[in-house]
Amino acid sequence: MREAPPLAGVIGYPIGHSKSPILHGHWLRRYGISGHYVPIEVAPADLAETLQTLPRLGFKGINVTLPHKENVLAMADKVSDRAALIGAANTITFTGHGKIQADNTDGVGFLANVKQGAPGWNARGAPAVVLGAGGAARAVISALLSDGAPEVILANRTRSRAEDLRQAFGAKVHVVDWGQVGAHLTEAGLLVNTTSLGMEGNGPLTLSLERLPTNCVVTDIVYAPLETPLLRDASARGCVSVDGLGMLLHQAAPGFHRWFGVAPEVDQDLRDAVLGG
Ligand code: ATR
Repeated sequence: MREAPPLAGVIGYPIGHSKSPILHGHWLRRYGISGHYVPIEVAPADLAETLQTLPRLGFKGINVTLPHKENVLAMADKVSDRAALIGAANTITFTGHGKIQADNTDGVGFLANVKQGAPGWNARGAPAVVLGAGGAARAVISALLSDGAPEVILANRTRSRAEDLRQAFGAKVHVVDWGQVGAHLTEAGLLVNTTSLGMEGNGPLTLSLERLPTNCVVTDIVYAPLETPLLRDASARGCVSVDGLGMLLHQAAPGFHRWFGVAPEVDQDLRDAVLGG
Protein backbone atom coordinates (compact mmCIF):
# COMPACT_ATOMS: atom_id res chain seq x y z
CA MET A 1 0.00 0.00 0.00
CA ARG A 2 1.22 3.50 -0.79
CA GLU A 3 1.94 5.70 2.20
CA ALA A 4 -0.52 8.59 2.68
CA PRO A 5 0.89 11.94 1.54
CA PRO A 6 2.17 14.21 4.34
CA LEU A 7 -0.21 16.95 5.44
CA ALA A 8 0.37 20.36 7.00
CA GLY A 9 -1.68 23.51 7.31
CA VAL A 10 -2.38 26.76 9.08
CA ILE A 11 -4.92 27.29 11.83
CA GLY A 12 -6.52 30.64 12.65
CA TYR A 13 -9.86 32.31 13.20
CA PRO A 14 -10.62 33.63 10.62
CA ILE A 15 -8.20 32.02 8.17
CA GLY A 16 -9.37 33.06 4.68
CA HIS A 17 -6.79 35.85 4.33
CA SER A 18 -3.74 33.68 5.06
CA LYS A 19 -1.05 33.61 2.38
CA SER A 20 0.55 30.48 3.85
CA PRO A 21 -1.36 27.99 1.64
CA ILE A 22 -0.13 29.80 -1.48
CA LEU A 23 3.48 29.83 -0.42
CA HIS A 24 3.63 26.25 0.86
CA GLY A 25 1.67 25.13 -2.21
CA HIS A 26 4.30 26.79 -4.41
CA TRP A 27 7.11 24.94 -2.63
CA LEU A 28 5.26 21.59 -2.77
CA ARG A 29 4.91 21.92 -6.54
CA ARG A 30 8.41 23.23 -7.02
CA TYR A 31 10.02 20.32 -5.15
CA GLY A 32 7.61 17.71 -6.55
CA ILE A 33 6.37 16.67 -3.10
CA SER A 34 3.05 14.84 -3.03
CA GLY A 35 1.86 16.49 0.19
CA HIS A 36 -0.86 19.03 0.93
CA TYR A 37 -1.01 22.26 2.95
CA VAL A 38 -4.48 23.50 3.89
CA PRO A 39 -6.08 26.45 5.70
CA ILE A 40 -8.17 25.32 8.68
CA GLU A 41 -10.54 27.63 10.52
CA VAL A 42 -10.44 26.75 14.20
CA ALA A 43 -12.56 28.58 16.79
CA PRO A 44 -10.78 29.21 20.10
CA ALA A 45 -13.03 26.71 21.92
CA ASP A 46 -11.93 23.95 19.51
CA LEU A 47 -8.19 24.60 19.70
CA ALA A 48 -7.19 21.91 22.21
CA GLU A 49 -9.22 19.19 20.50
CA THR A 50 -7.87 20.19 17.07
CA LEU A 51 -4.29 19.83 18.28
CA GLN A 52 -5.07 16.30 19.48
CA THR A 53 -6.87 15.31 16.30
CA LEU A 54 -4.64 16.66 13.51
CA PRO A 55 -1.67 14.33 14.09
CA ARG A 56 -4.04 11.33 14.02
CA LEU A 57 -5.21 12.47 10.59
CA GLY A 58 -1.69 12.52 9.16
CA PHE A 59 -0.66 16.10 9.84
CA LYS A 60 3.08 16.54 10.38
CA GLY A 61 2.62 20.03 11.72
CA ILE A 62 0.83 23.34 11.41
CA ASN A 63 1.40 27.05 11.34
CA VAL A 64 -0.53 29.03 13.90
CA THR A 65 -1.94 32.49 13.38
CA LEU A 66 -4.29 34.85 15.22
CA PRO A 67 -5.85 34.40 17.71
CA HIS A 68 -4.10 31.18 18.74
CA LYS A 69 -0.41 32.10 18.80
CA GLU A 70 -0.22 32.59 22.58
CA ASN A 71 -2.77 29.96 23.60
CA VAL A 72 -1.00 27.05 21.92
CA LEU A 73 1.98 27.39 24.28
CA ALA A 74 0.02 26.02 27.23
CA MET A 75 -1.10 23.03 25.13
CA ALA A 76 2.38 22.07 23.91
CA ASP A 77 4.49 19.23 25.30
CA LYS A 78 7.67 21.10 24.39
CA VAL A 79 8.19 24.83 23.83
CA SER A 80 11.41 26.11 22.22
CA ASP A 81 13.39 28.73 24.14
CA ARG A 82 12.65 31.38 21.56
CA ALA A 83 8.91 30.69 21.57
CA ALA A 84 8.93 30.92 25.37
CA LEU A 85 10.82 34.21 25.24
CA ILE A 86 8.53 35.67 22.59
CA GLY A 87 5.47 34.32 24.41
CA ALA A 88 3.88 32.94 21.26
CA ALA A 89 4.30 30.15 18.70
CA ASN A 90 3.76 30.19 14.95
CA THR A 91 5.07 26.72 14.04
CA ILE A 92 3.96 23.44 15.57
CA THR A 93 5.41 20.05 14.78
CA PHE A 94 3.72 16.82 15.78
CA THR A 95 6.36 14.34 16.84
CA GLY A 96 5.92 10.65 17.74
CA HIS A 97 2.60 9.72 19.37
CA GLY A 98 1.03 13.11 18.75
CA LYS A 99 3.40 15.09 20.97
CA ILE A 100 3.17 18.81 20.30
CA GLN A 101 6.37 20.81 19.78
CA ALA A 102 5.88 24.60 19.63
CA ASP A 103 8.37 26.98 18.06
CA ASN A 104 8.43 30.58 16.90
CA THR A 105 10.18 31.33 13.61
CA ASP A 106 9.02 34.95 13.22
CA GLY A 107 12.29 36.31 14.60
CA VAL A 108 14.58 34.14 12.47
CA GLY A 109 12.34 34.92 9.48
CA PHE A 110 12.77 38.60 10.19
CA LEU A 111 16.58 38.29 10.37
CA ALA A 112 16.85 36.11 7.27
CA ASN A 113 14.81 38.68 5.34
CA VAL A 114 17.00 41.62 6.41
CA LYS A 115 20.18 39.65 5.63
CA GLN A 116 18.89 38.66 2.21
CA GLY A 117 17.75 42.21 1.38
CA ALA A 118 20.79 43.99 2.86
CA PRO A 119 23.71 41.56 2.57
CA GLY A 120 26.24 43.93 4.19
CA TRP A 121 24.23 44.37 7.39
CA ASN A 122 24.92 42.57 10.63
CA ALA A 123 23.21 42.98 13.99
CA ARG A 124 26.47 43.45 15.91
CA GLY A 125 27.45 46.62 14.08
CA ALA A 126 25.24 49.30 15.63
CA PRO A 127 22.09 49.83 17.69
CA ALA A 128 18.73 48.92 16.20
CA VAL A 129 15.73 51.21 16.57
CA VAL A 130 12.46 49.30 16.90
CA LEU A 131 9.04 50.98 16.63
CA GLY A 132 6.12 49.20 18.28
CA ALA A 133 5.73 46.82 21.21
CA GLY A 134 3.24 44.15 20.11
CA GLY A 135 3.85 40.48 19.32
CA ALA A 136 5.88 41.27 16.21
CA ALA A 137 8.20 43.55 18.20
CA ARG A 138 8.83 40.72 20.67
CA ALA A 139 9.93 38.41 17.86
CA VAL A 140 12.12 41.11 16.26
CA ILE A 141 13.83 42.11 19.52
CA SER A 142 14.47 38.53 20.55
CA ALA A 143 16.10 37.80 17.17
CA LEU A 144 18.20 40.97 17.17
CA LEU A 145 19.55 40.32 20.68
CA SER A 146 20.29 36.68 19.99
CA ASP A 147 22.15 37.78 16.85
CA GLY A 148 24.39 40.09 18.91
CA ALA A 149 22.78 43.54 18.65
CA PRO A 150 24.61 45.80 21.14
CA GLU A 151 21.49 47.84 21.90
CA VAL A 152 17.82 48.07 20.94
CA ILE A 153 16.23 51.51 21.15
CA LEU A 154 12.50 50.91 21.55
CA ALA A 155 9.63 53.36 21.13
CA ASN A 156 5.92 52.68 21.34
CA ARG A 157 2.89 54.94 21.41
CA THR A 158 1.87 53.34 24.70
CA ARG A 159 5.13 53.60 26.59
CA SER A 160 4.19 51.05 29.27
CA ARG A 161 4.09 48.25 26.68
CA ALA A 162 7.65 49.12 25.67
CA GLU A 163 8.66 49.05 29.34
CA ASP A 164 7.17 45.55 29.56
CA LEU A 165 9.48 44.44 26.76
CA ARG A 166 12.45 45.97 28.53
CA GLN A 167 11.52 43.89 31.57
CA ALA A 168 11.34 40.77 29.42
CA PHE A 169 14.50 41.33 27.36
CA GLY A 170 16.79 43.17 29.78
CA ALA A 171 19.15 46.11 29.89
CA LYS A 172 20.16 46.15 26.22
CA VAL A 173 16.68 47.50 25.50
CA HIS A 174 16.38 51.26 25.98
CA VAL A 175 12.90 52.73 25.95
CA VAL A 176 12.42 56.21 24.51
CA ASP A 177 9.28 58.30 24.07
CA TRP A 178 7.29 57.72 20.88
CA GLY A 179 7.40 61.43 20.09
CA GLN A 180 11.18 61.62 20.62
CA VAL A 181 12.34 58.68 18.55
CA GLY A 182 13.50 60.86 15.64
CA ALA A 183 16.24 62.24 17.90
CA HIS A 184 17.55 58.71 18.59
CA LEU A 185 18.21 57.73 15.00
CA THR A 186 21.75 59.15 14.75
CA GLU A 187 23.58 55.92 15.70
CA ALA A 188 21.13 53.46 14.17
CA GLY A 189 22.30 50.58 11.99
CA LEU A 190 18.77 49.27 11.54
CA LEU A 191 15.35 50.89 11.79
CA VAL A 192 12.36 48.54 12.05
CA ASN A 193 8.67 49.39 11.97
CA THR A 194 6.65 46.70 13.73
CA THR A 195 3.52 48.86 14.14
CA SER A 196 0.55 48.66 11.83
CA LEU A 197 1.14 52.22 10.62
CA GLY A 198 1.71 52.39 6.88
CA MET A 199 -0.54 49.41 6.19
CA GLU A 200 -3.27 49.87 3.56
CA GLY A 201 -6.22 51.47 5.29
CA ASN A 202 -4.14 52.78 8.22
CA GLY A 203 -2.43 56.14 8.60
CA PRO A 204 1.23 56.48 7.63
CA LEU A 205 4.09 56.44 10.09
CA THR A 206 5.13 60.06 10.38
CA LEU A 207 8.74 60.03 11.43
CA SER A 208 11.40 62.45 10.27
CA LEU A 209 14.40 60.52 8.98
CA GLU A 210 16.54 63.69 8.98
CA ARG A 211 18.96 62.24 11.55
CA LEU A 212 19.08 58.75 10.11
CA PRO A 213 22.56 57.77 8.82
CA THR A 214 22.43 56.91 5.13
CA ASN A 215 24.12 53.56 5.83
CA CYS A 216 21.22 52.54 8.10
CA VAL A 217 19.05 49.69 6.79
CA VAL A 218 15.30 50.34 7.08
CA THR A 219 12.69 47.59 7.17
CA ASP A 220 8.98 47.30 7.77
CA ILE A 221 6.95 44.30 8.79
CA VAL A 222 4.00 45.75 6.85
CA TYR A 223 3.91 44.27 3.33
CA ALA A 224 0.66 45.66 1.95
CA PRO A 225 1.67 47.93 0.32
CA LEU A 226 5.11 46.48 -0.41
CA GLU A 227 6.67 49.91 -0.40
CA THR A 228 5.33 51.68 2.68
CA PRO A 229 5.79 55.46 3.02
CA LEU A 230 8.60 54.71 5.53
CA LEU A 231 10.47 52.56 3.02
CA ARG A 232 9.92 55.09 0.26
CA ASP A 233 11.35 57.88 2.43
CA ALA A 234 14.28 55.70 3.44
CA SER A 235 15.13 54.85 -0.17
CA ALA A 236 14.85 58.52 -1.15
CA ARG A 237 17.42 59.23 1.55
CA GLY A 238 19.79 56.64 0.08
CA CYS A 239 19.23 53.97 2.74
CA VAL A 240 18.85 50.32 1.81
CA SER A 241 15.21 49.40 2.44
CA VAL A 242 13.88 45.87 2.89
CA ASP A 243 10.17 45.20 2.50
CA GLY A 244 8.16 43.04 4.88
CA LEU A 245 7.02 40.32 2.49
CA GLY A 246 10.28 38.42 2.90
CA MET A 247 9.69 38.02 6.63
CA LEU A 248 6.46 36.18 5.91
CA LEU A 249 8.23 33.95 3.38
CA HIS A 250 11.28 33.23 5.54
CA GLN A 251 9.29 32.44 8.71
CA ALA A 252 7.57 29.67 6.74
CA ALA A 253 10.76 27.90 5.65
CA PRO A 254 11.68 26.04 8.89
CA GLY A 255 8.20 24.48 9.16
CA PHE A 256 8.23 23.35 5.53
CA HIS A 257 11.66 21.80 6.08
CA ARG A 258 10.53 19.93 9.20
CA TRP A 259 7.24 18.65 7.77
CA PHE A 260 8.16 17.93 4.15
CA GLY A 261 11.92 17.25 4.42
CA VAL A 262 13.25 19.90 2.01
CA ALA A 263 14.87 23.21 2.99
CA PRO A 264 13.03 25.55 0.58
CA GLU A 265 14.38 28.59 -1.27
CA VAL A 266 12.96 32.06 -0.77
CA ASP A 267 13.36 33.64 -4.18
CA GLN A 268 11.65 35.90 -6.70
CA ASP A 269 9.45 33.07 -8.02
CA LEU A 270 8.01 32.59 -4.54
CA ARG A 271 7.48 36.33 -4.10
CA ASP A 272 5.66 36.47 -7.44
CA ALA A 273 3.47 33.49 -6.51
CA VAL A 274 2.45 35.07 -3.21
CA LEU A 275 1.92 38.53 -4.69
CA GLY A 276 -0.18 37.11 -7.51
CA GLY A 277 -2.25 34.85 -5.24
P1 ATR B 1 1.24 42.79 16.63
O1 ATR B 1 1.10 41.69 17.63
O2 ATR B 1 0.93 42.39 15.22
O3 ATR B 1 2.55 43.49 16.71
P2 ATR B 1 -0.41 44.63 18.22
O4 ATR B 1 -0.14 43.95 19.50
O5 ATR B 1 -1.81 45.08 17.94
O6 ATR B 1 0.02 43.80 16.95
O7 ATR B 1 0.55 45.89 18.11
C1 ATR B 1 0.41 46.84 17.14
C2 ATR B 1 1.48 47.91 17.34
O8 ATR B 1 1.16 49.01 16.49
C3 ATR B 1 1.54 48.46 18.75
O9 ATR B 1 2.87 48.79 19.04
C4 ATR B 1 0.66 49.71 18.64
O10 ATR B 1 0.92 50.68 19.61
P3 ATR B 1 0.15 50.66 21.04
O11 ATR B 1 0.85 49.62 21.86
O12 ATR B 1 0.30 52.03 21.56
O13 ATR B 1 -1.28 50.30 20.73
C5 ATR B 1 1.06 50.19 17.28
N1 ATR B 1 0.08 51.12 16.71
C6 ATR B 1 -1.13 50.81 16.17
N2 ATR B 1 -1.75 51.93 15.73
C7 ATR B 1 -0.93 52.97 16.02
C8 ATR B 1 -1.01 54.39 15.83
N3 ATR B 1 -2.07 54.96 15.25
N4 ATR B 1 0.03 55.15 16.25
C9 ATR B 1 1.11 54.58 16.85
N5 ATR B 1 1.25 53.24 17.05
C10 ATR B 1 0.25 52.45 16.65
